[in-house]
Amino acid sequence: MEIVGTIQELREKLRQARRDIERTKPQSTVGFMPTLGYMHEGHLSLIRKAREENDIVVISIFVNPLQFGQNEDFDKYPRDPERDARLAAEAGADFVFVPSVAEMYPSPTKTTVVVRDLTDVLCGASRPGHFEGVATVVTKLFNIVQPDRAYFGMKDAQQVAVIERFVADLNMPVRIVRCETLREPDGLAMSSRNVYLSEEERRQALVLSQSLRNVERWVAEEGMTIEGLHRRIRETIESAPLARIDYVDIRTYPDMEPVLSLDEWNGGKPILVALAVKFGQTRLIDNRLFFA
Ligand code: PAJ
Repeated sequence: MEIVGTIQELREKLRQARRDIERTKPQSTVGFMPTLGYMHEGHLSLIRKAREENDIVVISIFVNPLQFGQNEDFDKYPRDPERDARLAAEAGADFVFVPSVAEMYPSPTKTTVVVRDLTDVLCGASRPGHFEGVATVVTKLFNIVQPDRAYFGMKDAQQVAVIERFVADLNMPVRIVRCETLREPDGLAMSSRNVYLSEEERRQALVLSQSLRNVERWVAEEGMTIEGLHRRIRETIESAPLARIDYVDIRTYPDMEPVLSLDEWNGGKPILVALAVKFGQTRLIDNRLFFA
């Protein structure tokens, strides 16, 4: 495994690595997993999948200032690049790209990638500019790495929808691979931000996964309505005194149209139940995707 800090060096090393592989087979493939770092098993599961499916595996660790709002945790986002590089190597990464902010943004960018509509709702509504920052940095990283496949976690389902959309709209030659959410044994979705939680907040945060686990049962109840389902989810979350709901939303996936009636549940479109809940200063998200 090699740690690389500059765009030019990464490009040269990837060109060489591809050339080496193509001495013995006609084509090489590059799998790419971008991350903000502070890795946990969720991240590592994406790297392992990339390892299984590609000749060369690249990951990036970059806390992207463009996707953090003014009052968000850019400065205090947890960082441990050395541990990350070690874990990434164990999971099968060949190259760990760790650029500085100056390397990625030598001057304030005048070009951004904006995905309309999909970004007006859920986390896009709570975090203005967030998905523009994500779409822009992911586009830059795709142009730098030029991967054949890129791996993203469904923990951030809206992020996956946004990335799939600009890749399709702009004809980017990369396959987006959706990866399932990894959870702690008690159900909490793994997240780098879980380290912010106090012991009590961590215990109460289980209401997110608990409410999502009950959705199927609630939908099957006789006389259940979409409003009733919203209410059940909210009540479950609000049973935790420290929980403050940012949103509970039910939308078609990946189009993000509102689901106005439970008749749509079996209408053929996948349905996303998505939650964002604050515990103290920590904002947690979780979701489940239901297929008709
Ligand atoms: P980050 O939050 O570090 O997540 C990196 C990748 O790991 C994302 O694709 C995310 O969905 C996935 N991931 C996070 N928690 C997961 C879990 N519990 N199970 C499975 N996968 C999980 O998402 C970002 O970084 C950034 O927005 C990025 C795409 C790197 C752009 O800056």
